[in-house]
Amino acid sequence: MKILVLGAGAREHAIVKALLRTGTNKDDLIVAPGNAGIALDAHTEPSLNANDPLAVTKFALEHAIELAIIGPEAPLVAGVSDALRSEGIAVFGPSQAAAQLEGSKSFAKEVMAAAGVPTGMARECSTIEQVADAMDEFGAPYVIKADGLAAGKGVIVTNDRDAALAHAEKFMHIGILVEEYLAGQEVSLFFLADGKTVVPLTPAQDFKRAYDNDEGPNTGGMGAYSPLPWLPEGFVEEVQRDVAQPTVDEMAKLGTPFIGLLYCGLILTERGIRVIEFNARFGDPETQVVLRRLTSSLSGLLYKAATGQLNGAATPDFTKDVAITVVLASEGYPDTSAPNRPIYGLSEAEETGIEICHAATAFQETRTGEEVLVATGGRVLSVVATGTDFASARKQAYAGIEKIQLEGSHYRSDIAAKVAN
Ligand code: AMP
Ligand code: GLY
Repeated sequence: MKILVLGAGAREHAIVKALLRTGTNKDDLIVAPGNAGIALDAHTEPSLNANDPLAVTKFALEHAIELAIIGPEAPLVAGVSDALRSEGIAVFGPSQAAAQLEGSKSFAKEVMAAAGVPTGMARECSTIEQVADAMDEFGAPYVIKADGLAAGKGVIVTNDRDAALAHAEKFMHIGILVEEYLAGQEVSLFFLADGKTVVPLTPAQDFKRAYDNDEGPNTGGMGAYSPLPWLPEGFVEEVQRDVAQPTVDEMAKLGTPFIGLLYCGLILTERGIRVIEFNARFGDPETQVVLRRLTSSLSGLLYKAATGQLNGAATPDFTKDVAITVVLASEGYPDTSAPNRPIYGLSEAEETGIEICHAATAFQETRTGEEVLVATGGRVLSVVATGTDFASARKQAYAGIEKIQLEGSHYRSDIAAKVAN
């Protein structure tokens, strides 16, 4: 089966590695645009704009693509899935309309209300006075969310009233949602959806804050681990029954069937499971650990989802081994962007047994004509390690990441620390 993967991050690199590990031939795989690391594992098409529906469709037809897998949200929101589907190509990724489940937080709240899905109370606000009133209603800590795509920077959780109001002011042009604060452990659980049926993958936890002990600003995600040994019995079944299935049913009822990955961002509160967000795509960096543990054919699963055949399909298998990922970020991330700097030590790092998923890297020619790998963005790469237990997986991940040299870079040292004893 000829497969096109769209995207350029560590998530897409993890998807590529999982496809290759579970039976896909390298010759059947094209990634657009990809990045320097993905190009080491698969054929990439750096000049194809993944957000351009017409260009992607033309390319897919020319290359006889049988399955398109869409990594990030931008092509979904741009309508790339719709364009591909209109030419009869199987697509793992929701339509533009269905991707609103991620693109618009107020739409997601409406769907949850209609479907009876448990979530936090929220108020939609279009003036700063309404924001202040909603903050008074819910009390501190304040949760302020931009009602649209903001590259992981749209949410602030803070006790600082002025900071909360300033954040609301900054994103007022795309709409603001003030939400009640939910206390508890966070869980990311992914479901494959074919428009009707949902199939769970395996739970993971993401570390959203920039620094150790959950300090510092929110980021796209600084690390993750899977599975979550502390989850109560029946957790996955409960989320499937009370969250994923009713949401996909409601989307079908609205005439916008959800085909692709339903990312359920959950908080396990004292009063039960609550949804804090939906995404319409694989999470980054959770995908690096979830797919690292997958042993079933990834292309088979995604093709079934894309073609309405999940009902009755075998549920995916995962190894009992645990996986952890640690993200290496550039100096200043997430607040400022660092200049492109060279990265050294990747082969030494890989010799420790870790896997490296590249996020923002490129090969650049030096003045002497040498090719060096440079960091080109905030989250530069994800180091992934597995083991029979979290202590050994952590040891390997950190032994690996320590070998990587990138001036000014930082990473969290406490990923999966709480479960490693
Ligand atoms: P979101 O983009 O909605 O996932 O929010 C980003 C992060 O903010 C989440 O991963 C949580 O850590 C935090 N967060 C979001 N909503 C809430 C909430 N209602 N209560 C507490 N923390 C939240
Ligand atoms: N790791 C959070 C996200 O992908 O949105």
